[in-house]
Amino acid sequence: MEVIVCNNYQEVSMKAANYVIKEIILNPETTLGLATGSTPIGLYQNLIDAYRNNLVSFEDVHTFNLDEYIGLPKDHPQSYYSFMYHNLFKHININLNNVNMPENESNNLDYLAKEYNNLLCNNTIDLQILGIGSNGHIGFNEPGTPLSNETFIVELDEQTRLDNSRFFMSIDEVPTHAITMGIKNIMRSKKIILIATGDSKKEALYKAVNGEINSSHPASILQLHPNCVVICDQEAGTLLEKKTL
Ligand code: GLP
Repeated sequence: MEVIVCNNYQEVSMKAANYVIKEIILNPETTLGLATGSTPIGLYQNLIDAYRNNLVSFEDVHTFNLDEYIGLPKDHPQSYYSFMYHNLFKHININLNNVNMPENESNNLDYLAKEYNNLLCNNTIDLQILGIGSNGHIGFNEPGTPLSNETFIVELDEQTRLDNSRFFMSIDEVPTHAITMGIKNIMRSKKIILIATGDSKKEALYKAVNGEINSSHPASILQLHPNCVVICDQEAGTLLEKKTL
């Protein structure tokens, strides 16, 4: 696990975007794994700028998103589909047929999870972008999730609902369930970059990088990935042990 501590959010966003840009320049048909949340917004802004400056084309890029809420229609402002569309897809030349997001509307949600999992198993993610929850979740793999899980329906942790309630009118509006790639899907990616910024992530990042590897802190599994880079700002990286830097 390589750890890069940057001065601030802007630098994290730029460094992370440069990894993605390099990946696309080397392989224009690359498959990206994408994350939502407030952390990657700056990264996506840098990708949009790179596209506008003719540095990259997304024409042949394929994407798979990590997760989606259950119970929010696609056009709900807080659905992850809306998030991706407004923060990235509508600003670049990606072919929306190459965009994959977990479906979330069916009487048989487990079937949807299976379908998305099949898609993931038939494709290889070249570069997966991850954020981290304050409780150590990646995607929506909450503490206690078996590390061998593939795509599944998860009941969201109270901490996650509380953290994400800032995007809703009240916590009651935050969905209770989501569909998410499992740890196993994430670990199959060829490369991973995890980005973390701000004081509220320092404990979670410390446990992910320096803590024991166990399912009570799902991000800790990334220590076992052969090609994982953590890019954080000084606030999020404040507890990291010197030997890892
Ligand atoms: C969300 C997403 C995660 C994201 C995390 C952190 O709930 N499911 O993929 O990494 O929470 O979000 P933020 O970047 O807003 O702190």
